[in-house]
Amino acid sequence: MNAHIIGTGSFLPAKVVTNFELAEHMDTSDEWIVSRTGIRQRHIAVGETTAGMALEAAKRALEDAGMQPEELEMILLATVSPDHIVPSAACEVQAMLGAKNAVAIELNAACSGFVFGLNTAQAYVRAGIYKKILVVGVETLSKIVDWSDRSTCILFGDGAGAAVLTADENAGIQDFIQFADGTKGEALLCDAKPLRNLFVQNEQKQEHVRMDGQEVFKFAVRRVSESIDQLLERNSLATQEIGCYILHQANARIIQSVVKHLKEDGEKFPMNVERCGNTSGASVPLLLDELNRAGRLKRGEKVIMSGFGGGLTWGSIYMIW
Ligand code: ACO
Repeated sequence: MNAHIIGTGSFLPAKVVTNFELAEHMDTSDEWIVSRTGIRQRHIAVGETTAGMALEAAKRALEDAGMQPEELEMILLATVSPDHIVPSAACEVQAMLGAKNAVAIELNAACSGFVFGLNTAQAYVRAGIYKKILVVGVETLSKIVDWSDRSTCILFGDGAGAAVLTADENAGIQDFIQFADGTKGEALLCDAKPLRNLFVQNEQKQEHVRMDGQEVFKFAVRRVSESIDQLLERNSLATQEIGCYILHQANARIIQSVVKHLKEDGEKFPMNVERCGNTSGASVPLLLDELNRAGRLKRGEKVIMSGFGGGLTWGSIYMIW
């Protein structure tokens, strides 16, 4: 049995912030941001919460799947920007949905989170443990971004996406590949709470995202291309057989470099980074939902998904839609 996506949903905060608006607050320009990243605007939470956005995306995915919340056996929620340390956003979504029969687990793999969530769902389905699983990717990155650092804050946006999966004999996830390299963790960092107790009061932490942009760029192009190559090779697939590549929407130039490496048709690599910015763990399911609702994905079509980001982490999935 394979984990097979039968419904998708997404949610974006109402507030849209264009590059021009950012340029009113910092020394940047639409031209600089578009030429380096392809991003023209992003959605920023002004009242929305991580759990609230995840809930909306999950409701829409369940509706699309024609499934009731009580039918769910597992909720896997990927985020690096939850509202609380405890309870997890996964448990909050379980409560708000009324998914009383589902275990709820949160997963932190940064921008690879949703892809790793799908892989985890696949493992549970393959093992015969669960058949009905909700996977959510959600981020309120605007609260962990350093708004005084123009080289990072212009990249990110907020939002949520979700997918409902059931066990299927033929369609669904056929194979996946996933990696981590903790030795390169410093390329993309955000500290958690500092150590402060009766005995230590002054440990300094930076609770904002810092990034070595060029290092991340090189890592992403190399590792995404490599992981897709490996997946294609071990499944004896030619690129011509793949109908669509759904890649983490970090930056249009990263995606264009992967297109070039694979000598593929750019049309097969849809993007929404122009409108949503980089939404980390939410970016793959946001794009997936957009494509699903637009009828862009045909049942039976072969699809590749790739996530890559902090950790460093990366991975790709081959699925039959
Ligand atoms: N507006 C105008 N100028 C800027 C801005 C800005 N927003 N940000 C930086 N600059 C300036 C810098 O100060 C620097 O000026 P200087 O030459 O006078 O020192 C100049 O632009 C060039 O800066 P670089 O950091 O070298 O710019 P680069 O061409 O590398 O582009 C970028 C930066 C866009 C971040 C690029 O490195 C990149 O795309 N990296 C990939 C990282 C990424 O996408 N991360 C997303 C999160 S991780 C993930 O999702 C996988």
